[in-house]
Amino acid sequence: MSEKVRVLLSEEEVDQKISELGAKISRDYEGKSVHMICILKGGAWFMCELSKRMTVPVSCDFMSVSSYGSGTESSGVIKINKDLDEPLDGKDVLIVEDIVDSGRTLSHLCDLLKHRNPASIRICTLLDKPSRRVKAVNVDYTAFQIPDEFVVGYGLDYDQKYRTLPYIGVVEFD
Ligand code: IMP
Ligand code: MG
Repeated sequence: MSEKVRVLLSEEEVDQKISELGAKISRDYEGKSVHMICILKGGAWFMCELSKRMTVPVSCDFMSVSSYGSGTESSGVIKINKDLDEPLDGKDVLIVEDIVDSGRTLSHLCDLLKHRNPASIRICTLLDKPSRRVKAVNVDYTAFQIPDEFVVGYGLDYDQKYRTLPYIGVVEFD
């Protein structure tokens, strides 16, 4: 069986949208600084690109979580593999994710981070599959809503492959 990746969103489309999002978020946070929290590994590519386009002061921290669950379904009970380096007290936090699928991971993560006394907490995602939502999450910024297809690239992987593609694609098997 061989795999092919079909382009869903081109590099130009993704870059253009991230520039628009960076400008919008910068306007919304005018006069403040944004503390970006990257959810590893997938969120790293998006956070780098987004943070370069922000015009307000930005600080960055990284967190790695995994969701307990069977097979491909996340359970929403998350395990922290790497915690943040910095406390969140009084900070305007922006969680940066690659994709919101069932919403279980982010909803649990948000509850956890709210208890660390940030001034505010918002969510920014590169991709959203709203049709897959099981757990409600308040996503403040979305670059693209996509249909229920398994996508790779721009940080997203299939079996640790394809993360470094500069576009978003769908894996096809033949
Ligand atoms: P959920 O929202 O808790 O279901 O989990 C979201 C996580 O599942 C994301 O952070 C990704 O790591 C992974 N994921 C969901 N859909 C895809 C996809 O289409 N491609 C690659 N990873 C995905
Ligand atoms: Mg992820």
